[in-house]
Amino acid sequence: MKIVLMGYMASGKSTVGRLLASQLGVQFIDLDDYIEASEKKSIKTIFSEKGEIFFRKLEHKMLLEVLEKEESLVLSTGGGTPCYANNIEMILEKSDCSVYLGMTIPQLVNRISKEKEDRPLVKNIPDEDLPEFIGKHLFERIPFYSQAKYTLNGSGSPEDVVTEIRSLL
Ligand code: S3P
Repeated sequence: MKIVLMGYMASGKSTVGRLLASQLGVQFIDLDDYIEASEKKSIKTIFSEKGEIFFRKLEHKMLLEVLEKEESLVLSTGGGTPCYANNIEMILEKSDCSVYLGMTIPQLVNRISKEKEDRPLVKNIPDEDLPEFIGKHLFERIPFYSQAKYTLNGSGSPEDVVTEIRSLL
């Protein structure tokens, strides 16, 4: 069984994914970590040295590679993964369960403002402009995220979100 988690930056995809995979006894893959391991560079460095278009092509290729694995796994995607190329179609076709972890704009602003440095897309946005930036960005991405098989409120504790996902399986 392949389970794919999606959602905006800082919506808890990696924490929830790791816990879910350990409870299910299956492999956990974080797509950002997978890309970093294959390139031997951080996402931040890939963005600054090669730019976003290069990153999106790599992300697409790595997503396909992970989705084609034989074994059961939980995959946490990057915040932009479902929104580029035909990634959302690939996710829907090749996974058994896809979940969008939804969060409100104030919740996202609160989390992201505390960890902007490693996030190339928001690191240069002044704190006072974050709510407007995230609001617009999320609005553009919701049409992709909302194609997931399930939409859950991602703001609960990771344990509660995992219990909710398991009840859907
Ligand atoms: C991105 C989100 C990041 C990472 C990259 C781009 C995005 O992943 O893939 O910085 O476009 O939202 P997280 O959602 O894990 O922060």
